[in-house]
Amino acid sequence: MSKTVVISGGTSGIGRATALARAARGDRVIVIGSRPDAPYRADLTTIAEVRRVAAEIARDHPVVDALVLCANRIFPRRTETPDGLEATFALYYLSRYLLGELLAPQLDAAGNPVIVNVSGTGITAGRVRWEDPQFTRGYGAIRAQVQAGRANDLLGVAHTGRARYVLYHPGFTRPGSHPNPLVSGVISGLARVAARPVDESARPIAAWIDAPPAAKLTAIDRGRPVPLSLRTLNPGDAARLRAYTEAAVARAAGRA
Ligand SMILES: NC(=O)c1ccc[n+]([C@@H]2O[C@H](COP(=O)([O-])OP(=O)(O)OC[C@H]3O[C@@H](n4cnc5c(N)ncnc54)[C@H](OP(=O)(O)O)[C@@H]3O)[C@@H](O)[C@H]2O)c1
Repeated sequence: MSKTVVISGGTSGIGRATALARAARGDRVIVIGSRPDAPYRADLTTIAEVRRVAAEIARDHPVVDALVLCANRIFPRRTETPDGLEATFALYYLSRYLLGELLAPQLDAAGNPVIVNVSGTGITAGRVRWEDPQFTRGYGAIRAQVQAGRANDLLGVAHTGRARYVLYHPGFTRPGSHPNPLVSGVISGLARVAARPVDESARPIAAWIDAPPAAKLTAIDRGRPVPLSLRTLNPGDAARLRAYTEAAVARAAGRA
C-alpha cells in the first residue's frame, strides 16, 4: 500500500536516496530542503520557516505515515539564527523536534506511523553543554555537531507520540555537496576512500517505513542495536532537554 512520507533534508545524500527509493515504490514523498528545486522549500534553521512548511504539509496531507529527519549542515563558524540560537542546534536538533511536534496530528492519523531520526546514535562522545548549549563561548563545528547528535538521541527518548521512533546512525556515507567548497572538498576526499554508498545507508530507512519496529524506541548504530540503557539515552537528560527546548522556543517567540 502506498504511503505518505515526509523527508527533511530530502534533496541530497541519504534523505534523497530514501526519497527516490520510496517514490519508486509508489509513495507520495514530500521533500523539504532549502535549495530552489525542493518541492517544499524552507530554511529549517529558523523556527518560523519550520512552522510555515509544517503548516503547508499538514494542509496538503492530513495523514503522514513516516517522517524521516535528515537535514543537517556543518557551520564552520558560529552562526546565530534570527531566533538567537546557534545554527547547528537550530537545524540539526530543533527543526527535528519541531517537525515531530507540529506533524504529530498527521502522524497520529496514520495506521502505523514511524519517525526515523538519522543522526549519530551509539556514539558516546560529546554531551549537551547544559551550561551553554548555544555555544556563546568555545564554538567548534564538530563540537556543535556532536552536541546536536546527543540532543537527537535524547529527542528519541523523550518522544511520547503514537509513532514508533527510530534513532539511526548510518555510518560514514558518501554525502551530498556542501555550500562551502573547502568543507565539501575535505568530506568528498575522505568519502572516496572510506564511505558507504548512499543507497546502502538508506535501505534500512525504506524498510522501517514499510514495517515500523514494534518497540516505541529503537536505536541502530551501523546495523547493530544500541542498548537503551546507554548513558546517552538517559531519560532524566531527555526530560531536561525537553524543558530547555520548550523554554528556548518560547523565548524565540518573545523575540519575534
Ligand atoms: N553522511 C555521513 O557520513 C553521516 C554519518 C553519520 C550521520 N549522518 C547523518 O545523516 C543525516 C544525513 O546526512 P547526509 O550526509 O545524507 O546529508 P547531506 O547529503 O549533507 O544532506 C543534508 C540535507 O540537509 C538539507 N539542509 C541543509 N541545510 C538546510 C536548511 N537550512 N534548511 C533545510 N534543509 C537543509 C540539505 O538540503 P538543501 O541543500 O536543499 O538545503 C540536504 O538535503 C545527517 O543528519 C547526518 O548528520 C551522516
